Amino acid sequence: MHSFLTVIGSLATLSSITLAAPLKARQDDPQCIDGLKKIFMPEMHNIYIYEDVPEFPSTSTILNVMNGSSSNSVQDQVAVWSNIPSTATQCSLGWAVTEDRSFSVYDNGLIRFFELSGVPPAGTNITAETIAPFMEEGAKNASIDFTFWAEQTGAHTHGGGLVDCKSEMAFYLTKDMVSGGPGSVTLEQNAQNGLFLAIDC
Ligand SMILES: *[C@@H]1O[C@H](CO)[C@@H](O)[C@H](O)[C@H]1NC(C)=O
Ligand SMILES: *[C@@H]1O[C@H](CO)[C@@H](O)[C@H](O)[C@H]1NC(C)=O
Ligand SMILES: *[C@@H]1O[C@H](CO)[C@@H](O)[C@H](O)[C@H]1NC(C)=O
Repeated sequence: MHSFLTVIGSLATLSSITLAAPLKARQDDPQCIDGLKKIFMPEMHNIYIYEDVPEFPSTSTILNVMNGSSSNSVQDQVAVWSNIPSTATQCSLGWAVTEDRSFSVYDNGLIRFFELSGVPPAGTNITAETIAPFMEEGAKNASIDFTFWAEQTGAHTHGGGLVDCKSEMAFYLTKDMVSGGPGSVTLEQNAQNGLFLAIDC
């Protein structure tokens, strides 16, 4: 009887530790649902492209890609997912929003992504210059369309395309000016909103 109560006691302690764990730790290991894990909140690096202004590195939680009609308003981004388990053999990009989100699309919302062949070594600032060696011809690329979706209330989830599984995966995101046109996409990312990497589990 006594040891039974001790077990109950330690279970209660364990579960309160689990509940007290920081939110971030739980998002890092999302649940496996129907054989898929969706990993939200990639590390986002802004790539500002302003004429005659030297590049400065910056990161963000917001998916924010634009190319307006003037050359002064271009922003690309690099999204990085790290520590992908080697057991993942099927990987794809997608995006989702819940009812409660901060999301806007101005004009055309077509974004093209290119899978980078790697990421610069830790400690290197991510800029157009440092990622250039990782942009290879023939890279996996596809467009994801956010146009008109900001006005659609409620939760919705969208597939984006298959990518190659690697332990560190990085994608260059840019406004698609060929199939799309000028515009911008702004989406605040958290555990349920924004880009996700779906892996088999
Ligand atoms: C922005 O769009 C213009 C065409 O409107 C294009 O020439 C330019 O390359 C684009 N910039 C980037 C960085 O994609
Ligand atoms: C990274 O960028 C910061 C801010 O511009 C700069 O101070 C720092 O020297 C850069 N680091 C490297 C390794 O280039
Ligand atoms: C984009 O993907 C196509 C195949 O779908 C490929 O032919 C093309 O080279 C890729 N573009 C780049 C810039 O890697």
